[in-house]
Amino acid sequence: MSKRIALVPGSFDPITLGHEDIVRRALALADRVVVAVAHNPQQPRQGMFTVDERVALIAEVFAAEPRVEAAAFQGLLVDYARKRGAHLVVRGVRSVADFEYEQQMSMMNRTLLAGLETVLLAPDPAHAFVSATLVRQVASLGGHVSPFVSPAVLHRIHEKLGGQAKQAGVWT
Ligand code: PNS
Repeated sequence: MSKRIALVPGSFDPITLGHEDIVRRALALADRVVVAVAHNPQQPRQGMFTVDERVALIAEVFAAEPRVEAAAFQGLLVDYARKRGAHLVVRGVRSVADFEYEQQMSMMNRTLLAGLETVLLAPDPAHAFVSATLVRQVASLGGHVSPFVSPAVLHRIHEKLGGQAKQAGVWT
C-alpha cells in the first residue's frame, strides 16, 4: 500500500515549539510528514536563518523521528505536493486572522490541485501566541526565547546573535 504523505509547509525562520507541536500531531494523520521550507528567491526578505539553515535545524529537531523529513521547495506548494505524492497539507491556526489566510490558501490549493486537502489544527494553548517573527524579534533585542524553541534552535540563535548580544551585555 502506498504511504500517505502530509506536507507541513511554512517559512520556519526558525522552527518554534508551536511548529513542532503541529508536525508531531500531523504524524497521526499520515505515514510520513515532510516539513517543507518555502524558498522564494524573488522575494529575499530579512530573515534570521538561510533556507538551508532552517532545513538543517528542522532535521536536527526531528532527528529521532524517522517519519519526519525536512526539505526545501521552490514555486507553488501544489507542484511540490504533486512531486512528493502528498495528499494532505497540515497547518496551525492560532487566531481568526490566521484562519482567514489559511482558508484562502487551502481553497486556492485545492482548486489548483484537486484532491489536495488541508487540515487546520488549533495550537496547543501553551504555544498559541508564539510565532517565529516574535521569536526573532525578542531574541534579536536580547530577550529570552528558551520557552518558545527547542534547545538546538536556541543554541543556533545564540550562535547567530551571540556576538551582538555579548557586545550589548545580554545573555550573560
Ligand atoms: O510560515 P508561512 O510564511 O505562513 O508559510 C506560508 C507558505 C510558505 C505556506 C505559503 O506562502 C506557500 O505555500 N508558499 C508557496 C507558494 C505558493 O504555493 N503560493 C500560493 C499559496 S495558495
